[in-house]
Amino acid sequence: MEDFLSTLRELEETGSAAIRGAGDPAELEQVRVEYLGRKARLTLLLRSVGELPPERRRPAGAEANRVKKRLLELLEARAAELAAAVAEGRAESDATLPGRERWRGARHPCTLVTDEICEIFKELGFVRARGPEAESVWYNFIALNTPLDHPAVDEQDTFYLGSDVVLRTHTSPVQARVMEKWPPPVRILVPGVVYRRDPFDASHAPAFEQIEGLAVDEGISFVDFKASINYFVRRFFGEDVVTRFRPSFFPFTEPSAEVDVSCTICHGKGCSACKGTGWIEIMGAGMVDPAVFDNVGYDSERYTGFAFGMGVGRIAMQRYRIPDIRLLYESDVRFLAQFERA
Ligand code: DAH
Repeated sequence: MEDFLSTLRELEETGSAAIRGAGDPAELEQVRVEYLGRKARLTLLLRSVGELPPERRRPAGAEANRVKKRLLELLEARAAELAAAVAEGRAESDATLPGRERWRGARHPCTLVTDEICEIFKELGFVRARGPEAESVWYNFIALNTPLDHPAVDEQDTFYLGSDVVLRTHTSPVQARVMEKWPPPVRILVPGVVYRRDPFDASHAPAFEQIEGLAVDEGISFVDFKASINYFVRRFFGEDVVTRFRPSFFPFTEPSAEVDVSCTICHGKGCSACKGTGWIEIMGAGMVDPAVFDNVGYDSERYTGFAFGMGVGRIAMQRYRIPDIRLLYESDVRFLAQFERA
């Protein structure tokens, strides 16, 4: 019996070492035949259990079966390891296999449009400014001449992060932040994300990019306002595009205007992109309301200015003929790669 058990122990040790040492599937097969084949010592040993004295048969048989099971498990695990190594090795060394495609990053259409707008206004002396997306009620509404009981607040009722902090509903609060910090003259552009309680549909997104503009100095007139916007539209959309200023209302501008451009897709004839009107609305704008200057400590008798705010996504949709705003926010690099300029 001692012999039986010590032989088993030896077979277990040498067998598992041989399995671990097998360098390829063929070698492993040899090891299998040697340790678990029909004529292997372990097989013969198992067969000889019946020749042992009756009281020893059970423990001897159990031990021999345990060793057999263990070696089989080791064999299986090693076979899987070797198979994986073979597969990898082939992929690395076979030059005829197709290459793995690498995903290149690409700039988002909104980023492309923002950069292009900033470049054009840079020529007119505008610099970029930024502000926080979590904004105080003061900057988002009150400083912009929008008391909280003003009906304009309803339209922008938004995501509150506490009683005094909102996710900003527009980039306009950065106007007030910059004016508080810097004396005139000011000429800034403010790109950034804003948040609205809007549904996610073909033409609305609850979070979207805006770009804000503000120019303040002595002697800025409505003519400067119209001329600057016209200059921008012609540079951005093309010389043949017509600009239209429609009277409107914003609490922080007086007078206020909504600016449309003739549809670049149908050239004013009317198509699905412009909903048959021939015009695309690109911004809200106007002459800065003196009350805003008073709120930020500017002398409203001395200074005047104009401001505007545009939805970058809508402009990108027009520029790149994107039919649904959700494509801007739900797509991956395959979508983005279509718009990157060389
Ligand atoms: N903040 C406005 C909005 O989000 C857009 C706007 C209108 C910005 C007029 C302005 C402005 O600076 O003068 O709807």
